[in-house]
Amino acid sequence: MPTFIRVCSVSDLPPGSCRTVQAGGQAIALFNCEGTFHAIDNTCAHRGGPLGEGTLDGTTVTCPWHGWQWDVTTGANAMGMPQKLRRFETKVEGDGVLVEV
Ligand code: FES
Repeated sequence: MPTFIRVCSVSDLPPGSCRTVQAGGQAIALFNCEGTFHAIDNTCAHRGGPLGEGTLDGTTVTCPWHGWQWDVTTGANAMGMPQKLRRFETKVEGDGVLVEV
């Protein structure tokens, strides 16, 4: 049954930044888009690059390995490719950011 797990503090992830977090035994890329948190699979569908270490521009993250781009709000490829990454629900409780896994 899905459950929300606290992965970091709100202050750990300023607007416009991203990071890799661990929840439910998996690596998840977490993004702060102007105060709204989004989470997708950390593993780029190209060759497995760590998207939490990518560059966030608006709601698009660029993979640090070869530059594939992903929509962090949906997990869709932002370059028109058919690959799609898993997306996770997020919420803020108190000063914590939670991800549903
Ligand atoms: S591994 Fe992400 S673009 Fe190649």
